[in-house]
Amino acid sequence: MNQLDNNCIAIFGASGDLTRRKLIPALYHLYITEQLSASFSILGISRTEYSDDAYRARIKDALIESEKLENSEQLDEFCAHIHYQSLNTADQDSYAVLKGRLTELSQQYDTAGNVIYYLSTPPSLYGVIPECLAAHDLHSEKDGWKRLIVEKPFGYDKKSAVALDKQLHRFFREDQIYRIDHYLGKETVQNLLVFRFSNGLFEPLWNRNYIDHVEITSAESIGVEERGGYYDGAGAMRDMFQNHLLQVLGMVAMEPPARINSDAIRNETFKVFQSLHPLDETRLKEDLVLGQYTASDIRGEHMVGYREEHGVDENSRTETYVALKLSIDNWRWNGVPFYVRTGKRLPTRVTEVVIHFKKTPHPVFGQNTPDNKLVIRIQPDEGILMKFGLKKPGAGFESQEVSMEFRYDSLDGTEVLTAYERLLLDSIKGDPTLFARSDAVLACWDFVQPILDITQDNPTLYGYACGTWGPKEADELLTREGRQWRFPCKNLTDADYCEL
Ligand code: BG6
Repeated sequence: MNQLDNNCIAIFGASGDLTRRKLIPALYHLYITEQLSASFSILGISRTEYSDDAYRARIKDALIESEKLENSEQLDEFCAHIHYQSLNTADQDSYAVLKGRLTELSQQYDTAGNVIYYLSTPPSLYGVIPECLAAHDLHSEKDGWKRLIVEKPFGYDKKSAVALDKQLHRFFREDQIYRIDHYLGKETVQNLLVFRFSNGLFEPLWNRNYIDHVEITSAESIGVEERGGYYDGAGAMRDMFQNHLLQVLGMVAMEPPARINSDAIRNETFKVFQSLHPLDETRLKEDLVLGQYTASDIRGEHMVGYREEHGVDENSRTETYVALKLSIDNWRWNGVPFYVRTGKRLPTRVTEVVIHFKKTPHPVFGQNTPDNKLVIRIQPDEGILMKFGLKKPGAGFESQEVSMEFRYDSLDGTEVLTAYERLLLDSIKGDPTLFARSDAVLACWDFVQPILDITQDNPTLYGYACGTWGPKEADELLTREGRQWRFPCKNLTDADYCEL
């Protein structure tokens, strides 16, 4: 058993989807692998009335179903740590009951008043809950530490993000606030840091002298599913680009941190966000492509168009696809284009970074010599693929493209933590490295806000059929410059994938 402080994890929004699908399974895995503290309690909080036993039974059933578990003693032991408090989260007075409950649990589990408040609620409550907690002194660290975990979205635009930040900071210090961007919890995203800065092989090449351009793709095959109501007000720019993709970009483009700690690392990614070249209307006309999926039939199955999805306005102009060419104004990256794209209902689920190296200065083997590429696969089939030229066997000196690859699943006996396991564990340890810092979030909004302003009234929106790689205009972003997107398959080594 490890030396973590005993603690209580109080989850607001306990009857919601995120708690059931992600948080409880993550805590369960940490429990069975003995990574949680010696003594801990989980307090589910939401409006619905449940007794402890009824909530426990619900959670247990969900765990059995989602994790394909058998009923076991270990499962019962874990569930015995779970408690429930029904609460009108917006009603300050009712927090007196919560205070009583937390005091009781602190004594029962000997947690010395250490509490993590996890806000797994609609964003409209992000400002309200801290205020209600503070009204009952539940934020005070007089007895035990208090931490606040907030899920994205951190604001709807720059203005609301600043307002939210102010609200949170009225009652919690920055070092108590853990903003979850679950992409930072992914093992392969963290590996960008280790891969770049633990090898003498790649880092000397990692700059404008040797890199021609960088591609970042985050494709999903699913549509908006049950979240049409939320998504229609957000769109891909807010849902994926402003947070996840910019965080990945930050890791790809950052300078080496002087040491591995939360300030040093986050200072460097923050500098990348500050150096993003602001996009004005003229550049956006050229360099931004927005799309929305339309109905199509894939392998005999009919996929509805975005506007026919539940909760979506039938005339919606919300983008489900974004492709953007951007640049970073600093010494390392001046002149290197970054092409970033994300979309729903694309042919497959894949997230990857592709580093395209420059051609050799003198093409002795002809103009068709393949480019050197490094594909860093974030998910699925996690790994790294290097593509380079080799002599084509036989007469003459022609070169052909070959590959070398590493796959995570070839590492024996390695249990990779899921993003939520890693992030929950870090918040219990009090390590904020993998959480988005306030200044970085605002810097990302600074970059995205002009795009939202310019596109909000009359965005040029292209349709793309479900199962394709987005609008053809997005291909032109690269082809006009003699480049091409990679069209990855779910397997790291296959290319050119399309469902249609
Ligand atoms: C979420 C977005 O933050 O990330 C979803 O709100 C998206 O729309 C999801 O589907 C993607 O996460 P992952 O880990 O499946 O790539």
